[in-house]
Amino acid sequence: MRRIIIAGNWKMNKTSFEAIELVNVLKRDLSTVKEVDIVVCPPFTALTEVSDLLVETNIELGAQNVYWEDSGAFTGEIAGSMLKHIGVKYVIIGHSERRQFFAETNETVQKRIKAALKNELTPIVCIGESLKEREANQTFAVIKNQFEGGFAGFTPQEILKMVIAYEPVWAIGTGKTATAQQAQEVHQYIRDLLKTKYGEETAEEIRIQYGGSVKPENIRELISQTDIDGALVGGASLQADSFSKIVKNCCPVLK
Ligand code: PGA
Repeated sequence: MRRIIIAGNWKMNKTSFEAIELVNVLKRDLSTVKEVDIVVCPPFTALTEVSDLLVETNIELGAQNVYWEDSGAFTGEIAGSMLKHIGVKYVIIGHSERRQFFAETNETVQKRIKAALKNELTPIVCIGESLKEREANQTFAVIKNQFEGGFAGFTPQEILKMVIAYEPVWAIGTGKTATAQQAQEVHQYIRDLLKTKYGEETAEEIRIQYGGSVKPENIRELISQTDIDGALVGGASLQADSFSKIVKNCCPVLK
């Protein structure tokens, strides 16, 4: 059985003051949820405050990036040990916005994953195709390339410590969600790639989240698909109400 994981990617939103406000409401609204792993990923500047608020709660903390070196002259970068030290448990790696705007490549994704694992952070590794690639029937080829590049050289034990997020770029922040069937098709393909590389048992244990315009209204159908094990939520994670509804819509007993 794979536990559902819902993570909020706040991107470059929320001052630390606003982050505190949002987390206080989430703590109250979600305190009874036991069936779902809940993660919030604020910007670096709010991590410490949010970390303090999340002590002994059912919500865990994630960061949005990590650098691959341990320390040194890398102005503006953040090391895994720094994140670990303030209570961060997860880190988003290879988000399409980083690939698109900040020269992220499969090679840098792989280095960041290594750094995360070294510091006992769970990487949430994002892969996904653009609209142009989908329209050119390149979806599977793009996913295979990102998978083979970013995940090169990891053992089954290491891959088991990761979460994969399938995020079709055309669905991010556009209001256009992939249909549950479109998403399932790619999730199944990713699980098949995992099976080929790491064996059936390992592949069955790895959680694959969907990301791209997830809302309270569409989460239920998405997670009812065999290979969709949760969501990476952008826009709808910025309001307590919509994020809480997404989480609660995943819990049978709370429906
Ligand atoms: P969105 O973003 O939910 O706003 O589409 C998802 C993401 O980029 O992780």
